[in-house]
Amino acid sequence: MKDRFGRTIDYLRVSVTDRCSLRCLYCMPPEGAEMTAHGEILSFEEILRVCAAAAELGVRKFKVTGGEPLVRRGIVPFVRALKRVAGVGNVTLTTNGVTLGDFLDELLDAGVDAVNVSLDTLNEAVFRRVTRSDNFEKALRSVYAARNTLLALKLNCVPVRGINEDDIVPLAELARERGTAVRFIELMPLGLGAKLSPVPREEIFDRLQRAFGVLTPSEERLGNGPAEYYSVAGFTGKIGFISALSHNFCGRCNRLRLTGTGLLKPCLSSDAGVDIKAVLRKGGDEAAVKRAVRAAVMLKPARHDFSANNGKHETKNMFRIGG
Ligand code: GTP
Ligand code: 5AD
Ligand code: SF4
Repeated sequence: MKDRFGRTIDYLRVSVTDRCSLRCLYCMPPEGAEMTAHGEILSFEEILRVCAAAAELGVRKFKVTGGEPLVRRGIVPFVRALKRVAGVGNVTLTTNGVTLGDFLDELLDAGVDAVNVSLDTLNEAVFRRVTRSDNFEKALRSVYAARNTLLALKLNCVPVRGINEDDIVPLAELARERGTAVRFIELMPLGLGAKLSPVPREEIFDRLQRAFGVLTPSEERLGNGPAEYYSVAGFTGKIGFISALSHNFCGRCNRLRLTGTGLLKPCLSSDAGVDIKAVLRKGGDEAAVKRAVRAAVMLKPARHDFSANNGKHETKNMFRIGG
């Protein structure tokens, strides 16, 4: 599918839940959030119908996210079913890692193509401060277990000023072996993220070059997302940057998002969307579901408006959107 700006839309990010086992300070309030009633969340059958419609329209790559996708019961059979939908190619998962170790074998068996793990620090005290949880060891064990499998693994770190700057170099060190990619994500002013300060990409770059030598731009594409990758001499994995504000990538945008509550979002930064849950629950047939997917593609803006003050800004926290 092409959008109004000629971009090919072939990637759907699917948030299967807004629940999460962590409370990251840029994403979730410390007390947690009001739980969305189960009935408001799309069933896996409903999600599969949306994915099948999207696949018929040419979407090939699917990202399963949350909240934390692994807290939803039945997630592995869902991944297996998604892989079997006609037209579906690549199915990947983004997780906070806490229970990933328990699911690795099953996920591999279900056919997951790659996994991204959010990991902002290698320091237990910082982990507790960022995530307000005691799950550091469990998350780290999962990361090391995942590195020992055939899974393509990428790590996501969101550097926040005054919180985890000193973790940038130790985390990047994990890209030295086993082909693990380590990506630095610019904090986006969404929900709680708006109250914190990002660490500029140039500063991250400088810290890395001082520690490891020159970072060389890499043409290699890892995955389907917006990251730009660099090689480092002696490293088998790449270092990536996802810098939505300072290095806009909307010109290459290839995606739609489906929230847990059944909103098809044309763009991360805007609260606009198509209520596909209403279509599904009013008995819409496959043609109606496809029309809703096409409508969301047609609503895609040329680029995000994070810096605009137009009242249409997405105010939801990331756990309700799926990253
Ligand atoms: P792969 O590279 O295929 O694994 O995909 P990805 O990088 O999109 O996956 P991931 O779920 O790990 O997302 C990493 C970060 O990129 C998250 O913080 C997302 O919010 C951010 N991101 C992904 N897509 C977009 C996008 O379209 N716009 C913006 N602004 N940020 C995005
Ligand atoms: N800005 C940037 N990235 C964020 N994430 C969550 N909230 C934000 C934000 N405000 C990241 C998580 C995870 C990914 C899916 O989204 O750290 O790695
Ligand atoms: Fe696409 Fe919006 Fe993300 Fe830009 S911010 S890449 S337009 S979804």
